[in-house]
Amino acid sequence: METEKQLHVAVIGMGFIGLPLSLSYAMKGAHVIGIDVLPKLVEEINEGKSHHLEYYQGKSISEILHDQLDAGRFKATTDYQEAAKTVNTYIITVGIPVVNGDPNLSYLISACEQLVSVLKKGDTVILRSTVVPGTTEEIVLPLLEKSGMKAGEDFFLAYSSERIAEGKAFEEFISMPLALGGINEASASKAKEVLSFVTEAEITVSEIKVVETAKVIENIQRDVNIAMVQQFARFSERMGMDTFELIKVANTHKRVNLLVPGPGVGGYCLPNALYYLLPKARELDVNIDMLELARKINDTVPSVLVDMVEEQLKSQNRSLMGSQVAVLGLAMKDFSNDDRISPAHHVVEVLLERGAKVKAYDPAVPGQYPYKVESLDAAVTGSDVLIYLNAQEEFLDIEWDQVVSQMASSPILLDAKHRIPSQVANQVKLIRI
Ligand SMILES: NC(=O)c1ccc[n+]([C@@H]2O[C@H](COP(=O)([O-])OP(=O)(O)OC[C@H]3O[C@@H](n4cnc5c(N)ncnc54)[C@H](O)[C@@H]3O)[C@@H](O)[C@H]2O)c1
Repeated sequence: METEKQLHVAVIGMGFIGLPLSLSYAMKGAHVIGIDVLPKLVEEINEGKSHHLEYYQGKSISEILHDQLDAGRFKATTDYQEAAKTVNTYIITVGIPVVNGDPNLSYLISACEQLVSVLKKGDTVILRSTVVPGTTEEIVLPLLEKSGMKAGEDFFLAYSSERIAEGKAFEEFISMPLALGGINEASASKAKEVLSFVTEAEITVSEIKVVETAKVIENIQRDVNIAMVQQFARFSERMGMDTFELIKVANTHKRVNLLVPGPGVGGYCLPNALYYLLPKARELDVNIDMLELARKINDTVPSVLVDMVEEQLKSQNRSLMGSQVAVLGLAMKDFSNDDRISPAHHVVEVLLERGAKVKAYDPAVPGQYPYKVESLDAAVTGSDVLIYLNAQEEFLDIEWDQVVSQMASSPILLDAKHRIPSQVANQVKLIRI
């Protein structure tokens, strides 16, 4: 307990991972400094504001943030120098966005460049971002050794993948098993101590490149599983079967674990994963075309959904051109405020390309878009079509009879999440995927 109280850690990157991770350390008694390059974000965090939908033991992330700011165990800054005065451990959580299929390492590189100017002898650096396999040893290590210090001797360097799911961050920082690789035994052992401060789960130690690659393939296996299920869904629709029922039955087999289809695959993690593996696979001349095909299948789901609506309209001698479409849920998954790489935006794009007028509603997503409206009423009133893509708490209480009565005559509803009650199909055309 004595040593636990002495942990002084800086978390680099105050995003979906970095902020709740910082607070998890602070709640355990560590002194934590959160570093981010965005002054406005840092200011908001220091005022106790967060848009994230994370909860722990009945408290929201904003309440936890307030508690930890008040207790003096956490603060955020843009200043690496300020952080370096008190910390000896750094956890890097900046992202690697994918732009036109290419991973952009500039945030990670700039974080390392800023870190190298303040790194001290004896410091520990743990990279937790999801990376192109090889990044810790081929990119981060040489950048940090520009300090003139030797990794593994003068400072310690390790990689540990981050596996939590947004919305369950606080609980999973404690309960999700971790994988860890150090550039030498001393680094792995230092990093294990730091990780054990928060996690109560098993930590598997392996080579850095194994841990980096394992993270990427963990995500790709979900992408491939979902692509496979999308094809099962198309088959089951033509057979006149309920896909969710089909999957439920198949999953009663103890060795089968099919995921469920939806409006596509979104968020920062799954769609990017292939593009982290691809550059290395190409460099090594390894064929991963099955994985590439899965990504393509998932990318086409938004247009497949719009095709379904268009077909239904055509069968009634109507057209998408000029139709008003209400879209419910812009986030990348149910009960999330994260709409990065969300298939919902892709659905909207396809609808707009085909001449529909779109009013999308999502009470949790803070971003502003020309097609976003601020209430359910504004989205559904007078609409010809309603597409339910992702759930939010507010949607659980929807009175569907009321919604249908607000829509135009002969409305069409498409439910990508099996959340619209089946009775609605007695009154209107309900398409389920
Ligand atoms: N979001 C998830 O559910 C999740 C789950 C597992 C793993 N991951 C991985 O964790 C990493 C972080 O993801 P995220 O969702 O938190 O990303 P994010 O974009 O929400 O947060 C990253 C933050 O880093 C900041 N940043 C960029 N450059 C910086 C620099 N030089 N110094 C300090 N801060 C800098 C950005 O301003 C941003 O606030 C990614 O590699 C992601 O793949 C995310």
